[in-house]
Amino acid sequence: MAKEIKTIGVLTSGGDAQGMNAAIRAVTRCALNKGIKVKGIVRGYSGLLDNDIIDMDAVTVGNIIHKGGTMLYTARCPEFIDPDPAKAEAAIKRAANIAKAHGIDGLVVIGGDGSWKGAQKISKHGINVVGLPGTIDLDIACTDYTIGFDSAVSIALEAIVRLRDTSNSHERCSVIEVMGRHCGEIAIWAGLTGGADAILIPEKPETADFDNIVRIIMENRARGKKDNIIVVSEGVGGSVELAKRIQNEIGIEARATILGHVQRGGMPTATDVKHASMMGTYAVDLLASGANNRVVAYKNGQYVDYDIDEALAMKRPPSFDMVECNRSISTYR
Ligand code: ADP
Ligand code: F6P
Repeated sequence: MAKEIKTIGVLTSGGDAQGMNAAIRAVTRCALNKGIKVKGIVRGYSGLLDNDIIDMDAVTVGNIIHKGGTMLYTARCPEFIDPDPAKAEAAIKRAANIAKAHGIDGLVVIGGDGSWKGAQKISKHGINVVGLPGTIDLDIACTDYTIGFDSAVSIALEAIVRLRDTSNSHERCSVIEVMGRHCGEIAIWAGLTGGADAILIPEKPETADFDNIVRIIMENRARGKKDNIIVVSEGVGGSVELAKRIQNEIGIEARATILGHVQRGGMPTATDVKHASMMGTYAVDLLASGANNRVVAYKNGQYVDYDIDEALAMKRPPSFDMVECNRSISTYR
């Protein structure tokens, strides 16, 4: 018989992302409406180890739906990834025992695939877990959407639009670095929608080939273009050096702008709040049905769930079709 969940713990872990608050609200309200108690775990797995756990009611999550950041705070917890496997396992067991001492028998973890690995290990200690994809990077293979992505891309796009004005006025080249630790999706989406001359992503190292970038810039200038926009993914990096090289080697004034954490703040877009709300309630439904070791994903327009182990083993190439699309429209003919 499926385990009956009486108390759900909810935490946010890893880098924050717009929409995390909307997800916390959805989990809390949906669980309370089913008669399940809710505890908020502060500062992710670190707060769990510190016993930093609060009671959540419908009012606790009032007025957070459109707020960026996470009301539960977030952290990275080095104890869970201690190089000594015995120490890491001991920390995970201790965390599970602390959760149990608070009556938590189900846990919703909102974070990236690193946070899901922590959840997977906690599930082995008698707590049913469900992961939600919360990261601006869109770097989790099992899902077509991660909470925060649309907001981050929208901020990057707005920055490109602003930079285009000043670049055009000065007839400069703008090199714009966007976030994405190992994954080029933010660069691809912001680059295509921002009309970039070139998009540099870590998954295709040849996109960072200097001679190719110069060729694109020179061809576009020869056809009358007054400014250039080069979007660089954080995973490629080196945007300051690239701007200097462009200026020094081809004589076109160039400036680098690293957008950084500005992409992680502010009001979530409607898309993020929608996914956060739908995924949050889906997670509670899963736990209420007795599910364990699952993650919620958005696949082909539907909300689905996978076993965490299966989800973590999945692979997906980035949106190369969008890179190709950009290539075919970014040069004047
Ligand atoms: P994200 O969740 O955004 O991918 P991280 O990779 O930084 O962010 O992971 C967040 C936290 O999840 C880590 O600080 C650690 O506590 C936990 N975690 C990450 N990887 C593992 C792992 N392999 N095993 C157990 N816990 C992990
Ligand atoms: O994973 C999300 C992300 O914003 C990455 O794009 C970036 O590399 C990283 O987090 C930065 O994390 P921190 O919060 O440690 O600066």
